[in-house]
Amino acid sequence: MSITVAIDGPSGAGKSSLAKRLSAELGYLYVDTGAMFRAVGLYAMRAGHDPADQQAVAALLPEITLSLAHVEGAQHIYLNGEDVSEVIRQEKAGMAASAVGSNPAVRAFLLEQQRAIAAENDIIMDGRDIGTVVLPNATVKIFLTATPEARAERRHRELLAKGSTETYEKVLEDIRQRDWQDTHRETAPLRQAEDAVLADTSELDIEQSYALLKSIIAEKAGV
Ligand code: DC
Repeated sequence: MSITVAIDGPSGAGKSSLAKRLSAELGYLYVDTGAMFRAVGLYAMRAGHDPADQQAVAALLPEITLSLAHVEGAQHIYLNGEDVSEVIRQEKAGMAASAVGSNPAVRAFLLEQQRAIAAENDIIMDGRDIGTVVLPNATVKIFLTATPEARAERRHRELLAKGSTETYEKVLEDIRQRDWQDTHRETAPLRQAEDAVLADTSELDIEQSYALLKSIIAEKAGV
């Protein structure tokens, strides 16, 4: 039986940076499921469709082949053979991902692939519905969150460091919109699984957050 660690939570809670580091230390495969939704959103946009158009996006799915590869611990995602790992990080791909994420056909399409990966590897998988839907029997479930203001502040700092002129208010508004979309959709909305451990990092820095997650995993998985 493989060890599976499910980390769910809203945008900007630090899931991917913490999961990446934890998986490197534990020697597990890191699977970022948000990247899969982003790649589908990107494909829909490139095909000239509104990512929120459920019928149109469902009809595109047979044209989409996604594959993941891990190079020196980093996940690369390929959309029909093209490495889209960088381009999917754009804000508009995140919004498109959130829109296609409410599409049941897209969720079913990706669910199968996510479960197949988890069946074969010790993994840390992050997303919105990993503990509730994708891996209900995960060895460890963590719900990683922070207040919208704390998440917006971190994101804003990152953007400024990259030379962006985006205001804090706009970042906070985007975070609130994404939270609303992710928690209010009908299929697999973002919520804490009953058996997940809540990790609120609003008052913690990155090192403290990392130590908290490590201790939760150590306790639940005995590693
Ligand atoms: O984690 P992220 O920001 O890369 O995710 C982008 C969007 O994809 C997120 O707003 C909602 C959607 N998503 C989802 O619906 N289910 C997942 N397991 C992961 C992401």
